[in-house]
Amino acid sequence: MQQYYQDHKQRFISELMEWLKIPSVSADSTYNDDVRKAAAYLQEKFIAAGADRSLILETDGHPVVYAEKILDRAHKTVLVYGHYDVQPPDPVPLWSSPPFEPIIKNDKIYARGACDDKGQVYMHVKAFEAMVANNELPCNIKFIIEGEEEVGSAHFDQFVKSNLSLLACDVILISDTALIANDTPSINVGLRGLSYMEVEVTGPRLDLHSGVYGGAIMNPANALCQMIASLHDTQGHITIPGFYDDITPVSREERDRMNEAPFNLDTYKNYLGINEVYGEEGFTTLERTTIRPTLDVNGIWGGYTGEGAKTVLPSKAAAKISMRLVPGQDHQKITRLFTDHFMKIAPAGVSVKVIPHHGGAPYVTSLDSDGYRAAAVAMQKTFGKMPIPTRSGGSIPIVSLLENSLNADVILMGFGLDTDAIHSPDEHFGLYNFFKGIETIPYFYSAFAASVNV
Ligand code: BES
Ligand code: MN
Ligand code: MN
Repeated sequence: MQQYYQDHKQRFISELMEWLKIPSVSADSTYNDDVRKAAAYLQEKFIAAGADRSLILETDGHPVVYAEKILDRAHKTVLVYGHYDVQPPDPVPLWSSPPFEPIIKNDKIYARGACDDKGQVYMHVKAFEAMVANNELPCNIKFIIEGEEEVGSAHFDQFVKSNLSLLACDVILISDTALIANDTPSINVGLRGLSYMEVEVTGPRLDLHSGVYGGAIMNPANALCQMIASLHDTQGHITIPGFYDDITPVSREERDRMNEAPFNLDTYKNYLGINEVYGEEGFTTLERTTIRPTLDVNGIWGGYTGEGAKTVLPSKAAAKISMRLVPGQDHQKITRLFTDHFMKIAPAGVSVKVIPHHGGAPYVTSLDSDGYRAAAVAMQKTFGKMPIPTRSGGSIPIVSLLENSLNADVILMGFGLDTDAIHSPDEHFGLYNFFKGIETIPYFYSAFAASVNV
């Protein structure tokens, strides 16, 4: 296998770069054709890598790419999930090089999707190719790579429910998360859930002169800011009644263990360019970003935002707000609690509309499974160290549904880094990480295939 990687290294990189040139932005319909092109590119690469068949399967949204190689029905089956859609590249002027013209700088590939998740999906395609070429595939493999993860997997839900036998497997392997560091391997055992809302506050029926009317009416932008500000108290708690009620407590022991993971607050602050961290009192930064829920404005607008000054009272103001949820919290219930509360705190003189966008369930799993052990063995082989179990603050909305409906454990073995700038300008993926993934994945298959109890 090592020889194979050496011989084909350059081709692996250039194929990924070709794929990254296709702007598969799922959120923006002007990219619809490109999303389809990216799916077709992947389908072709699955066949070239040795899949028995690869299909583009339609949903009511963007298509899903499926591929499989079934050696023997009696063997175990690994299902690899990932996504080929990417976040919008905005704000484009802040990129050092164009987001869909991938380049290599300092041994990293820079492009939208380089890490999240095209680069990580492509590790799987190439690991699969190497195993087939070297006759070392120890189990059946199925791939299900969707095109709507970055917009909440809205149609993938239904897709999974109607394709249970196609997707039947013994374990689900996902590379769409990060390592603690390149010399500190980790396996993700938890993800946060999500409830994403949009709110709109309306005052007068038209924009007004801020001198002629200012002081006499409730300005919807002022009202929105007051309402949003009231959603946290001075200790950083969220004030929505009932918000924390269902959270599964995390034991002191587990919290202590979690805080042993390497983390340097100064490095963290320096990287972010901030002089102080913020958050819920009584919790560390690591805890605040993993085992605690959040509420954050993701976008806010209203009134005049162009160049210079314009004296105006806006007729409307609006914001997009995300809440990250932790095990025990139900995203539909949280969406309801938010809506009721937000309507209630509106001051007189404005009307409020709340629009829920996507949601997803939080996820946590145990270390006591064949899948986890196989991933730990695989990482131990290639990093020379046992991986540390960690939870991540991000969300992959479909994980909990996949696990429950296919009745198989999900293993989150990701090879990115938190500093890869996913969703941000200058997203990148280290070549070290790309090849570490390609090298580690086959060890997962062999360790899992050899495990006795499934
Ligand atoms: N791959 C990420 C999630 C992630 C990132 C997990 C880093 C762990 C570490 C995924 O593509 C993502 O961005 N998810 C969205 C979900 C949403 C768009 C429904 C998220 O977390 O914002
Ligand atoms: Mn992702
Ligand atoms: Mn993402």
